[in-house]
Amino acid sequence: MNLTVAPQGPVRGEARVPGDKSITHRALLFAALGEGPARIRGYLDAGDCRATMGCLRELGVPITEIAPGELIVQGVGLHGLTEPAQVLDCVRSGTAMRLLTGLLAGHTVYAVLSGDAQLLRRPMDRVVQPLTAMGAHIWGRDSGRLAPLTIKGVPLHGTTHRLPVASAQVKSSILLAGLFATGETVVIEPGPSRDHTECMLRARGVPLTSVALTHRIQGPVSALSNMDADIPGDLSSAAFLIGAALLVPGSRLVLRDVNLNPTRTGLLDAIALMGGHIDILTQRDAAGEPLGDLEVTAQPLHGAAIGGELVPRMIDEFPLLALLATQAEGITTVTDAAELHVKETDRIATVVSALRAMGAHIEPTADGFVVEGPTPLVGAPTLSAGDHRLAMMLAIAGLIARGETIITQAECMDDSFPGFVPLLRSLVRGTP
Ligand code: S3P
Repeated sequence: MNLTVAPQGPVRGEARVPGDKSITHRALLFAALGEGPARIRGYLDAGDCRATMGCLRELGVPITEIAPGELIVQGVGLHGLTEPAQVLDCVRSGTAMRLLTGLLAGHTVYAVLSGDAQLLRRPMDRVVQPLTAMGAHIWGRDSGRLAPLTIKGVPLHGTTHRLPVASAQVKSSILLAGLFATGETVVIEPGPSRDHTECMLRARGVPLTSVALTHRIQGPVSALSNMDADIPGDLSSAAFLIGAALLVPGSRLVLRDVNLNPTRTGLLDAIALMGGHIDILTQRDAAGEPLGDLEVTAQPLHGAAIGGELVPRMIDEFPLLALLATQAEGITTVTDAAELHVKETDRIATVVSALRAMGAHIEPTADGFVVEGPTPLVGAPTLSAGDHRLAMMLAIAGLIARGETIITQAECMDDSFPGFVPLLRSLVRGTP
């Protein structure tokens, strides 16, 4: 489906974004491993999380929607998953595939994990290799580099794994296997990736400690206590609305109940480095995650150098950052972000080519890109390449571009942000 976006007037009003994708995946998985029922409120009902839900149902976990946005998961206990009769379809979700691989490695089941062509191109050796070092039996195409993955659960032993790149998916996959392994499993990160797995497992009674970037879990764990979860709004989704409010002249937008976990707020820091200011109106704690209301107004930005520890804290926000940089005065450089090559698409290549089609001055580098701004954007037919975050960034670009912007495969926005287009429509006020 193509989406056509024409330039629009200011973005105004208040909005709530859907539930956090990373926390929803984990709330589902951990509720499944707990004993008895757990209620999940405000879950993200989007393609990626529906993939995790579908796989858990196939593994014998009853999940019922009792009200819009509210689920009951009947936990089957740490060893209660049953062998799936079908291939587990992770659709386009890397988080579903990598976390489930770690979880199933220590189960006494045989399982095959597969997904759409996009997911079958993404590297899986980053989990297969450390899990194999724990004794796991996992096979994949290209010597275990690519899915479909076949897992024959076996007894595992602890390991120490030093991550070459900060990745919450890989860290989480190993820690989940560590629940079932004998002895200590240690994961050492080179930088701070999102910490939802550690926080949520600790809250459920798992003996997991984190000192700086070293995480240790003492296995095997006997049980996970089940608890209800309230899912905060996803800052990675809010990012697109923040971008719209910053860029469309005259905008003023309040975003309610956004997750402000410091391992996720790199974009806010990057905007500050670019001279922007976002007001945090209120901040509170909900189920162990800091929540806040953000007020964003249109304002000028300047170029900045984005790299180092900021990168994992905003790893999903680089398509939007690139758009901001096209409107900022001067040069913006992104470094240390080679991970972008292996996201839903090669986001260095796809972001550069889509923004260039709209007239931006953006050059790819091996580990990021360089943007020279400000450049007036011109509406164009653009390729989302089926990448949800690229498609949403282009929709925001379309609000400020001259003429019409046409975005291909726009339905992919539903992978993380169902209702993005109607919500954006409800916030824009007429023509510029
Ligand atoms: C995620 C971690 C990140 C992020 C993805 C969700 C998670 O991936 O890009 O959208 O929920 O753990 P990496 O861990 O591969 O950086």
